[in-house]
Amino acid sequence: MAVLVTGGAGYIGSQTCVHLLEAGKEIVVIDNFSNSSPLSSQAVKEITGKDFPVIECDIRDEEKLGEVFSSYKIEAVIHFAGLKAVGESCQKPLEYYDNNIGGTVKLLSVMKKFGVKCIVFSSSATVYGEKHTAPFNEEMEVGGTTNPYGTTKLYIEQILRDLCASDSEWSVCLLRYFNPIGAHESGKIGEAPNGIPNNLMPYISQVAVGKREKLSVFGDDYDTPDGTGVRDYIHVADLADGHVVALDRALSVKGCEVYNLGTGKGVSVLDLVKAFEEATGIKIPYVIAPRRPGDIATSYADCSKAKNVLGWEARRDVRKACEDTWNWQKNNPDGFTK
Ligand code: NAD
Ligand code: UD1
Repeated sequence: MAVLVTGGAGYIGSQTCVHLLEAGKEIVVIDNFSNSSPLSSQAVKEITGKDFPVIECDIRDEEKLGEVFSSYKIEAVIHFAGLKAVGESCQKPLEYYDNNIGGTVKLLSVMKKFGVKCIVFSSSATVYGEKHTAPFNEEMEVGGTTNPYGTTKLYIEQILRDLCASDSEWSVCLLRYFNPIGAHESGKIGEAPNGIPNNLMPYISQVAVGKREKLSVFGDDYDTPDGTGVRDYIHVADLADGHVVALDRALSVKGCEVYNLGTGKGVSVLDLVKAFEEATGIKIPYVIAPRRPGDIATSYADCSKAKNVLGWEARRDVRKACEDTWNWQKNNPDGFTK
């Protein structure tokens, strides 16, 4: 029996494939490569020394999905596939609703048809909206998302809850990621954003490699210890470990469960810049810029549920994430090209 990994060629998906293979799981990857390269799966094979099918398939293509489910014995799905750029989602909301929500509905329909009723879903801390005070826990009311991307995560969570309520055979694990950073320690797979990065860590690493002149720090007048935004940066390898345990949980327990995946620690923009400088010895020039619309001051997780129920907690620190990011970035300044 195999685990189907949608979006398995992407940043978090490829790292999770490594951990699944190392845990002895069989996997099948599908991806439409809209934001990734088949070379990442090639690198996963090199890292693990294991082979697996990589199929070009859009999750909105029900016929092709049906062929995949007919060809392989799938026991569960880890569903990463989706569009994730917040700014772009405000410009192209219909594409985001079609790809993320429409695609997920198609995927679930095909899973149901083939009797595969177990799914782990990539949700986001963004579903907590703006009204709560950190640390965020899973009991808090979700909603009040500020952009179409976040709203797709909110709606997909609800769709999956409704599915579980309609049929007790489904098992669903909603994983709310905080801020994934870092890369595989081999330097062979990592984050390769198209164009100008929106997120902090890829921006810092592109400044370090000389692709960008300086970092703009979006606001230094927040109600935080140094005035800059505070986030919960989690190493992508810890996140991948979280998926392996969440998958085992979903395979053994029916119903819908939700877990935060973070470190529980708040790190400011300037803390992350400093950690990167200390880890790499490279100075990151920055200027203070206006606040970015839609940003909140502080976001970090209460991770006690994942620790108590799944026995999972983040083990790698921000320094390790900076080292691994740099190892990936300096060897692959243009992402997957070789
Ligand atoms: P990514 O863009 O690197 O990976 C997503 C993958 O899905 C890409 O390989 C892309 O080509 C593929 N894809 C997109 N639409 C598809 C479709 N219709 N059919 C098939 N494949 C499709 O992003 P990531 O950072 O690895 O994120 C993975 C998941 O985690 C996404 O759902 C994202 O929204 C979610 N997430 C990411 C973050 C983050 O900061 N990176 C935070 C919270 C949640
Ligand atoms: C982003 C997404 C959010 C998603 C989350 C998880 C936006 C508006 N939000 O949020 O939906 O769930 O990632 O990955 O994109 N910063 C700078 N300069 C930069 C980039 C960022 O100062 O060039 C600051 C931001 O203001 C923030 C912090 O760095 O305080 C982290 O930003 P980012 O990496 O974009 O993550 P989030 O804001 O948490």
